[in-house]
Amino acid sequence: MKRNFLSIYFIIIIAILAGCGAVEEKSSSDTGSDSSGKKLIMATSADYPPYEFVDTAKGGDVVGFDIDIANHIAKELGYELEIKDMDFNGLIPALDSGKADFVIAGMTPNEERKKTVDFSDEYYAAQQLIVTKDKSIKSVEDLEGKTLGVQLASIQEKEADKLLKEHKFEVVQRNKVTELVQEMKSNRVDAAIIEDAVAYEFLKKNKELSSFALPNTDAAGSAIAFPKDSELTSEFNKELKKMKEDGTLDKLIEKWFGVKK
Ligand code: ARG
Repeated sequence: MKRNFLSIYFIIIIAILAGCGAVEEKSSSDTGSDSSGKKLIMATSADYPPYEFVDTAKGGDVVGFDIDIANHIAKELGYELEIKDMDFNGLIPALDSGKADFVIAGMTPNEERKKTVDFSDEYYAAQQLIVTKDKSIKSVEDLEGKTLGVQLASIQEKEADKLLKEHKFEVVQRNKVTELVQEMKSNRVDAAIIEDAVAYEFLKKNKELSSFALPNTDAAGSAIAFPKDSELTSEFNKELKKMKEDGTLDKLIEKWFGVKK
């Protein structure tokens, strides 16, 4: 009898311990779906050297200034990073539909975008250039009757619309900046609006192209975009601030843009 009582007692203790274990297991799988690594999905449009581009020498990896920034911040915050490359006009929809946790793509925060997404602080600024192969195009006036290319859903598309108010030319949109460059080289598009640092990368590799500044445009900053009210915005801002203060950002600017800021 005494023995029976002891073994029941023993069984109860085991059951309680096992129960605790089960509960514990459940709660850990509930919170961090994989404690082995928190993962963030980053979307970009890798047609934009030196911000982001496909490095064929590196087996088709997406590399660039933005990618280094994203990798640095993800590492500091303890996240693993998955990069999704897509057309520029798919980036904000990817945030809206939860397909990406953030976007880094040399994206300029503007009022229209701020209606649907949140932005980090700005980390770099650019100017707009007109790039062309046509030697007769030296000013905006010379665009009269020509075709002007822009990336679909970019602020360059908006700049072209502004110019249309005073000049007569045809605006053509393409999904990728690399397509615009290709079309200028094969004379299907006469000129394109491209940001300075990106334009210089294409000019270096395509000697037949030249450029001039697009007048009356404000500096266009780049910032990281997040779904509205994402907690990541402030976490990323803290890291960006640190990168600005400790010289990490300057080092990356020098690495990718070849200039000291
Ligand atoms: N800064 C411009 C914008 O926000 C163009 C950015 C294009 N970025 C890219 N990865 N293609 O509209």
